[in-house]
Amino acid sequence: MVNPSLSRYIEEIAQLVGDRLHAIIPDHHEVPDNLQRSMEYSLMAGGKRLRPVLVIAAAESLGASQEVALPVACAVEMVHTYSLIHDDLPAMDNDDYRRGKLTNHKVFGEAMAILAGDGLLTHAFYSIAQTARLGVPASDVLAIVEDMAVYAGPSGMVGGQVADMEGEQGITDLEQLRYIHEHKTADLIVFSLKAGGRIASATEQQLEALECYGRAIGLAFQIQDDILDLVGDESKLGKKTQSDVKQGKVTYPYFIGLEDSRAEVDRLTRVAKDALTNGDIPNPEMLLDIADYLLKRDH
Ligand code: IPE
Ligand code: IPE
Ligand code: MG
Ligand code: MG
Ligand code: MG
Repeated sequence: MVNPSLSRYIEEIAQLVGDRLHAIIPDHHEVPDNLQRSMEYSLMAGGKRLRPVLVIAAAESLGASQEVALPVACAVEMVHTYSLIHDDLPAMDNDDYRRGKLTNHKVFGEAMAILAGDGLLTHAFYSIAQTARLGVPASDVLAIVEDMAVYAGPSGMVGGQVADMEGEQGITDLEQLRYIHEHKTADLIVFSLKAGGRIASATEQQLEALECYGRAIGLAFQIQDDILDLVGDESKLGKKTQSDVKQGKVTYPYFIGLEDSRAEVDRLTRVAKDALTNGDIPNPEMLLDIADYLLKRDH
């Protein structure tokens, strides 16, 4: 059972973020209609909004408000959504369903899907910059911009996606797979937590605790994604299962089996919670509950 106050919290933030994303491009920015529709289609398709929830929960764990954290929460959801649009393209995982709907390229065509991803990635930096108008010192906003470029960029998520593509079938050890998972998925989750911390003027020690927590739940999140790709329920997931098998991907269950993969998710959840508990975070309760919630997720 998910803690009812956590379910309510996630729903509230999803609503808040959804409303803000809906109007994320200012009226005076002139955007071609088809591009606007293509970006909006994937943004509003009903993702879990996990990364925005983490930005806001991390900020609140250190006493900052939801409102101040909202532009960065929206920014990470835009970057995540772009990564999914591109991940689904025929040249990558070649998937037809995402978030319970046809994938972006199936509706708008490949060229528009690529450009919608480009638009979301670029506009994310615009959104982060708005944080400076909400009283967060410019030096902290700059650190968030720099983190986003690193965690989402060539040495982060994009690097992980490249390793994932190049590694198809050719991976021979768990370390290589761990590298892929840490970069393609955990890095944006680490970004979310550190950004929430920076918005709340976290100390170095607090940022480190948030980073350790994020690295552990981030890796656990991708292992669980691999597990659900094998044994999950398509109607709950909103995407087809067996995508990894079809693409010849090496995954945690492929390497160490389902049972040991589940045990690893369990172990990483404990590592994450320990990092927070020992990290001098004044209000860690929501983040601790989120770790447990992710452990049991079925979508
Ligand atoms: C899916 O992410 C892709 C991975 C990085 C594993 P999510 O499971 O968070 O997808 P949405 O945002 O809910 O659609
Ligand atoms: C996706 O990993 C990671 C990114 C999009 C960066 P997967 O390819 O496993 O994600 P799903 O299963 O398609 O959601
Ligand atoms: Mg992929
Ligand atoms: Mg995929
Ligand atoms: Mg997957």
